[in-house]
Amino acid sequence: MSSKNPLSRAIGVFDSGVGGLTVLQALRRRMPRRDFVYLGDTARVPYGRKPPEMVVEFAVEIADFLCGMGVEGLVVACNTASAVALPALVERCPVPAWGVIDPGVEAAARVTRSGSVGVIGTKGTIASRAYQRRLEACGFRVWAQACPMLVHVVEEGLVDSPEARLLVRQYLSGRPDMDALILGCTHYPLLREVLQDAVGPGVTLVDSAEATAEVVSKAFAGAPQGEAQGQVVHFVTGDPVAFAHTAKVIGGVEGEIIPLPVTELAAARSPR
Ligand code: DGL
Repeated sequence: MSSKNPLSRAIGVFDSGVGGLTVLQALRRRMPRRDFVYLGDTARVPYGRKPPEMVVEFAVEIADFLCGMGVEGLVVACNTASAVALPALVERCPVPAWGVIDPGVEAAARVTRSGSVGVIGTKGTIASRAYQRRLEACGFRVWAQACPMLVHVVEEGLVDSPEARLLVRQYLSGRPDMDALILGCTHYPLLREVLQDAVGPGVTLVDSAEATAEVVSKAFAGAPQGEAQGQVVHFVTGDPVAFAHTAKVIGGVEGEIIPLPVTELAAARSPR
């Protein structure tokens, strides 16, 4: 890690915005003495409506930036980037990289009794069929729905609003009977209350943050970590004030928020 960076033995975590903070929180609960570097690409959010090849480019730039800081592992805390870019990142990064989709599918498989599972996500995630393929391979009946407006609702700090309730009701109106609904976008756990109200108590909401944190913390079990409470540094490509404000919905951010122009991020890309 460079002398400018006070963190050591850090894990890199990224998302297009604040959604990945749900994964970061779960990771910190399980690894309280480890340092983390979080990158929120808020200047380019949403990823979910962008062509997959563009999302791969963004993810590669971010991975190179975080790996250049000397992180010991990389968590893709974004379903859209996990769906389209994880194989490229695994191949490219000198450290282990994890996505959120496999842990989410495994968590859903643990909770469903009826075998009827729903998944909601961005347009990119749903179009990639990353969830549908895995769930169908387990023998489940799958209902999948893209909910493109929900990321905006979260990034604009409108999680507890009539607009959020209206959109959620509309997106979920065509669902069949099911007993598990995967929140296939890391922004959606911030809408948990509204989503749970819409589907009722008989449906378990599956959030891949905990499941991902479990997988990653197992991989680091026994690895050396700091003595004191771990630190977090957040880099954001958009407005740091807006990021801090939106993050209040999940208790705010602990640690420094550093603006990172996308041009600097692009320049960090290694020629591999
Ligand atoms: N939070 C992200 C995800 O899990 C990305 C949302 C977006 O930027 O569209 O897919």
